[in-house]
This record gives sequence, structure tokens and C-alpha cells, in this order.
Amino acid sequence: MNVAPILELKGLTKRFGGLTAVNDVSMSVREGGISGLIGPNGAGKTTIFNLITGVYKVSEGAIEFKGKSILDREPYQIANLGITRTFQNIRLFKNLSVFDNVLTACHMSAKYSLLESFFRLPRFYREEVILRKKAESLLDVMGLSDRADLTANNLPYGLQRRLEITRALALDPALLLLDEPAAGMNPDETEQLMRLMEEIRKSHNLSILVIEHHMDLVMGVCDHIHVLNFGCTLADGPPDDVANDPKVVEAYLGGEEIKSC
Ligand SMILES: Nc1ncnc2c1ncn2[C@@H]1O[C@H](COP(=O)(O)OP(=O)(O)OP(=O)(O)O)[C@@H](O)[C@H]1O
Ligand SMILES: [Mg+2]
Repeated sequence: MNVAPILELKGLTKRFGGLTAVNDVSMSVREGGISGLIGPNGAGKTTIFNLITGVYKVSEGAIEFKGKSILDREPYQIANLGITRTFQNIRLFKNLSVFDNVLTACHMSAKYSLLESFFRLPRFYREEVILRKKAESLLDVMGLSDRADLTANNLPYGLQRRLEITRALALDPALLLLDEPAAGMNPDETEQLMRLMEEIRKSHNLSILVIEHHMDLVMGVCDHIHVLNFGCTLADGPPDDVANDPKVVEAYLGGEEIKSC
């Protein structure tokens, strides 16, 4: 069965002055799939996330989410449409508890008004109960319940990354963008993260686009991989095809560097 892509990038280009960080990249993420975006340092991977989430404006090309252009949308609108992300450098409220980190993200979907919150009207209390339950349930799914009262800063690094994913999930995304979620993790933590990605994909009906340098993770969970090198597409296809592509092997293992498209 041919499932329509949830995200499509068409001829995407981003220039920073004289530097072309992303050069005519076309790729798609299948609805319900896990796609990998890989490439050496500086290849343009995070820039692509910043373009998708509206942090950077596109120089040329198109980005379609569920068949509609999101080029003119602001970052908060794109999050509301259902695209949320984690960051290469973890962004948490370091001095808040693990639970409050998730609760603040859950509040983004709160249905009470400022007035109802200010005067503590009944709807505020009803909604607060629902949001707290949602935060508890997300922490449970992500295996963080027993650390709920810890200050985020005191979590081991690998669990801080997991907490960031929990916060992104709290916004009820249809598409989750993960920027190097396994960075700094040991092989056991990476293995657990892979299983978790599969679980949340199913339980939350998600599509996932993941940037990662851990090839075990990429090869283990992705059904499709797009490889970038110096902003250009080097390869695109199923994991086995990409892994055996001589251009990809060359880019990763060194030798003559390919410096232009
Ligand atoms: N805001 C910016 N202004 C100028 N240049 C930028 C900006 N953001 C990124 N770049 C440049 O664009 C290129 C691609 O950067 P990007 O962060 O997308 O790479 P990456 O593939 O995510 O690398 P890494 O694996 O190291 O995270 C780099 O040369 C980088 O210096
Ligand atoms: Mg990056």
C-alpha cells in the first residue's frame, strides 16, 4: 500500500550569505514511518529541522505538511499544526522538577482562559486535573515516573534527553523531529531509546524524523534514510541500500571528500 507522505520537502535550499547550508534537497517522511536524516558534521541536518519548524526562513523550495504548504507559518503555528521537536543541545527548565517540565508543556494545550485561571474558576481546576493526569501518563510511558520529583538538572544526561522527548510529546504531535536523541548515550541507553521510539510511534500514532550519528540506532529503527553531505543529497532510500552505497561509505569513512553537489 502506498501511504501518502506526512512531510514533503521539495527543492529545499537555505543560504546564509555566501554559504549554501542546504542545497536543493527533496525528501519525504511517510505517514506512520520513522525516517533518518544522516550526514557528517555541518552537512545541514539541523538547518533542515530549523526550516521545517519555521525557525529559519526558506531561501528556495517548498515544505508541505499533510499536503499543505507551511512556508508562511510561524514556529508556534507549526507546533500547533502537529510538528514538534527536540534540540541537539538539550533545552529544559533545568531548575524545575521532571514533572513540572512536562506539565508546563501540557499547559500549551490548556483549554481554560487567562481569566478562568486568574480567578481559579471551576473549569481551571477541572482542566488542571486532566493536564496533571496527562503529564503522569507521559512520564509513565517514557519510564520517568520514578524520577518525577527530581530537578531536571539532576537527571543523568541520557534521561534529560528522554525528558525532552516527553515534553515534545506533550504537545500531541503528528510528526516528531528528534535532533540527535542518542547523543551522549551508552549502547544500553541507545538500545532502550530505540525501543521507546518504536513504542511511542505506535501508541501515539506518530511519524518520526530523526537526525542521528549512532548508526546502530539509524539502521535499527528507520524504514527510510536520507543522507546529506555539504548540504546536498548524497543518497535516499531503504537502510540497506543506503548503507551499501559507495558514496555514503566514502563520505563517512573519509578519503576524497565530496565538497560540492
Ligand atoms: N544561523 C546560521 N548562520 C550561519 N551559518 C549557519 C547557521 N546555522 C547553520 N549554519 C551553517 O550551516 C552549515 C550546516 O549546519 P548544521 O547545523 O545544519 O549542520 P549539521 O548537519 O546539523 O551538523 P552537526 O552534525 O555538527 O550537528 C554549517 O556550515 C553551519 O556553520
Ligand atoms: Mg546538527
